[in-house]
This record gives sequence, structure tokens and C-alpha cells, in this order.
Amino acid sequence: MSYNLLKGKRGIIFGALDPNSIAWITAERVHEEGGTFVLSNAPIAMRMGQIDELAKKTGSQVIAADATSEEDLENLVKQSMEILGGKLDFVLHSIGMSINVRKGRAYTDQKYDWTQKGTDVSAMSFHKVMQTLYKHDAMNEWGSIVALTYMAAQRVFPDYNDMADNKAYLESIARSFGYFFGRDKNVRVNTISQSPTPTTAGKGVKGFDGFISYAEKMSPLGNATAADCADYTVSLFSDLTRKVTMQNLFHDGGFSNTGVSQEVIEYFSK
Ligand SMILES: NC(=O)c1ccc[n+]([C@@H]2O[C@H](COP(=O)([O-])OP(=O)(O)OC[C@H]3O[C@@H](n4cnc5c(N)ncnc54)[C@H](O)[C@@H]3O)[C@@H](O)[C@H]2O)c1
Repeated sequence: MSYNLLKGKRGIIFGALDPNSIAWITAERVHEEGGTFVLSNAPIAMRMGQIDELAKKTGSQVIAADATSEEDLENLVKQSMEILGGKLDFVLHSIGMSINVRKGRAYTDQKYDWTQKGTDVSAMSFHKVMQTLYKHDAMNEWGSIVALTYMAAQRVFPDYNDMADNKAYLESIARSFGYFFGRDKNVRVNTISQSPTPTTAGKGVKGFDGFISYAEKMSPLGNATAADCADYTVSLFSDLTRKVTMQNLFHDGGFSNTGVSQEVIEYFSK
């Protein structure tokens, strides 16, 4: 169902790699709701992924940008305003990567240049994106900026590895920059803390199948899917959530406030 919630709104969507990506499904929903946008991803991901297909489907242009490069981001923001014909109303940061996770290095055996790279891509890039938008005065008043995060920022999930620390940093950046964006430009900044979701990044975490099933059994409403996340993001981009800012918003079917569920008790009572 479509409500035209984003009619006339313009933005940038980072992180659509393939049809499983949360950003991909969000781009489709934003399009359905009348929003127009530029799609962006790292140059290497664009070669591997299928972003052109999404661009065609949503009538969007694609601009490559490594989210750790200030130069790339500056070019992206300037070009996006030209292509879309004005300032932006929404930005989705849906970017994450840990080399330690990818290469199977334990949290207790980090290779620190990999750790640093992961922090730059997964967290500091959010600051860089916002600083670029802020300096170029690229956001319209009552615009909305959203990044995706995971509850490992608050609680330990051992195999989430250094991504847990990156997410804690990301959420802190949302609060800190949210203050300045709110005070100076009437723009809101939030993070959505999403349920485990079967995407390329998600499935890269060791033991993913186990913990997605566990989360499903622990959540009274069940895990939030990528499509649910897309709906929630649309609501945060819309005019219906104008005073929500500097929040980490749990979107997890109730997982984060559940100590134990009946199903999990029954499983261990066998
Ligand atoms: N899948 C899950 O279980 C889950 C749960 C909570 C939060 N998240 C978060 O959602 C976001 C999107 O991930 P996803 O699950 O859709 O996986 P995904 O693998 O589809 O998306 C990750 C994206 O990050 C992009 N990226 C990596 N390095 C980049 C760089 N240097 N510059 C620009 N882009 C770069 C990748 O190309 C890819 O498109 C991430 O922040 C992830 O941590 C995912």
C-alpha cells in the first residue's frame, strides 16, 4: 500500500548492493511513496552488485562514492542536488563492513589496521556524510537522516566482533550530530536498530543462522524483516515524525525488551 508520504521529497540512499540489501528494499518503498533519490555505493560494490537494475526500476541515477572519502562525498552531494533539482529531504546511511569479521579474526585477536578500516567505513563515514551535508547546507528544513545499526552496540553478541564497537560509535555520532543539525537546520538524525536480517552483511557474521532463529523466538512480534525496516524508514523520512531526533530506535519485534520468551523456556525445558 502506498500513501504518497514522500511526494516531492528528494534524497540520497547509500548501500544498495543486491535485492536483499535493506537499502535496496528501502529504495523501492521510498519510490512507491513518491520520493526521488540518487543511489550511491562504493565503486567496488557497484562493479560487483546489481545497482543499475534498481536504478532503472526507480528512475534513479547512480553515483559512486566511497563513504570514507570526503572528496567522493562532496562530489556526490553536489551532483545529487543538481540532478534532483534542489536541496535534500532525506538520507539513508546503510553501510557496514568489518574486515576482522570477514576474515574470521576473533575479537581478542584483532588486526588493528583492519579494525580501523572497519570503523572508518561503518561509523566515521556517517560523520563524514553529515559533515558534508551540513557544510554544503544540503538539507532542507525538517529533513531526515537515518543510519542503520544493531543492538550489539548495547549488549554482547560475541561473533558481531568489532562491529559492536563500530555501531556504538555510529549511534553516538547520530546523537552528537543530531544536536547540531537540529539546532542549526531543523533536521533530524536517528539510528534504527534493526533485527538480524539475511543480507550479504548479515550473513557474513559467524553463527548468523543460529542467532536469527534465536531472535525470532525471543521477539513477541517476530523479527522485523528488511521490508518492515523499509516501512519504518519511510515513516522517519515523512513529515509525520518531525520531532523525533537523536534517538536510537529499536525495530526488532520487541527483542530488546524481552528477558526470555515462553518458546525459549520450553526449548530448554525439554
Ligand atoms: N543484516 C543485518 O542483520 C543487519 C542488522 C542490523 C543492522 N544492519 C545494518 O544495515 C546496514 C546495511 O546492511 P545490509 O544488511 O543491508 O547488508 P548489505 O551488505 O546489503 O549492505 C552493506 C552495504 O555497505 C556498502 N559499503 C561497504 N563499504 C562501503 C564504502 N566504503 N562506501 C560506501 N558503501 C560501502 C556495501 O557495498 C553494501 O552495499 C549496515 O549498516 C548493517 O550493519 C544489518
